[in-house]
Amino acid sequence: MYHRPIYLDAQATTPVDPSVLQAMLPYFTEQFGNPASVTHAYGWEAEAAVQQARETLAAAIQATPEEIVFTSGATEANNLAIKGVAEAYFGQGRHHLITIATEHHAVLDPCQYLQSLGFEVTILPVQPDGLLDLEQLEKAIRPDTILVSVMAANNEIGVIQPLVEIGQLCHQANVLFHTDAAQAIGKTPLDVNAQQIDLMSLTAHKIYGPKGIGALYVRRRNPRVQLAAQLHGGGHERGWRSGTLYTPQIVGFAKAVELGLTRLDQDTHHLLSLRDRLWQNLQMLDGILLNGHPTQRLPGNLNISVEGVDGQALLLGLQPFVAVSSGSACSSTKIEPSHVLRAIGRSDPLAYASLRFGISRFNTPEEIDQVSDRVIQTIQALRQAT
Ligand SMILES: Cc1ncc(COP(=O)(O)O)c(C=O)c1O
Repeated sequence: MYHRPIYLDAQATTPVDPSVLQAMLPYFTEQFGNPASVTHAYGWEAEAAVQQARETLAAAIQATPEEIVFTSGATEANNLAIKGVAEAYFGQGRHHLITIATEHHAVLDPCQYLQSLGFEVTILPVQPDGLLDLEQLEKAIRPDTILVSVMAANNEIGVIQPLVEIGQLCHQANVLFHTDAAQAIGKTPLDVNAQQIDLMSLTAHKIYGPKGIGALYVRRRNPRVQLAAQLHGGGHERGWRSGTLYTPQIVGFAKAVELGLTRLDQDTHHLLSLRDRLWQNLQMLDGILLNGHPTQRLPGNLNISVEGVDGQALLLGLQPFVAVSSGSACSSTKIEPSHVLRAIGRSDPLAYASLRFGISRFNTPEEIDQVSDRVIQTIQALRQAT
């Protein structure tokens, strides 16, 4: 009989929580109206649900509902933030942006696109633990800098960047601060005021919500962020993002965030205990290196490099039993070593021979032990064979 692998890839995506699905279901069938229909109850119901979700999301990050723009996910939110701001501020003679080497491609690629249009982009390196050096950031900011984009938590190594300090530096210099919080929402505290964040990208599918829905937070006051729309059409979302709002996904997104916040302590405790158990178990072998900062990281993330084994062989050895990722899921179609692991100084062979474990709310200690056994056996077998 075919056994499905144990799922330890929660940084790629998570299953939808059953209570999230329940909240979404009526909006596919009975309450199917278009939130933009203002002439009948079907539209009003849908609009009320969207408004409620907007309020929930805003409250989760200390924003106001008018500052939330729904998008199809964090990729779109990052594109809207980076390209939208660059286009809006270009006329003021500002054409410089700053980001860091460990960003997701959904930040790096829009920046690269802007470079092709003549913008200047500084990509700062990170330290061997994955953290940004704040002095380097301060030095990189120029009078014509529009935006600093630094992710809240890394999708591969889980490292959490010092958002408060970065926000402070940006605001002192009159520069906008964007953060990609796709991996952080519902897992670490986010407060756009305390952290002085001007734009923040969010997504639902890393926190037990549905795929294909996200949001961009856009600050309206101190400063009021200017943004050029990247999708033009019916003028939805105050003209910033046209397209019929996807009510069931929006309702599910808000429910997932709400659930994440109510369960934050419980989930964090659970994830930390499983993550530590996995790390302890694996350390019975020599030559297992932790990638990323040992404590300033997401509770459910463990990223290791394994000495003395071939990366492809390692992944193949685990294949039918454990669903993990080597590098990030989004870049796993490319057979290049992870740009994040390279940025923290790992050699190519160690970057190839890496495993990213993403633990979720639904994993159990028994699963962690089974996975540990399998990983240890596979590594031992590969090392003996060489
Ligand atoms: C840090 C980060 N940014 C952006 C994305 C893309 O998000 P989405 O799948 O919602 O477009 C991901 C997902 O892999 C991510 O981990």
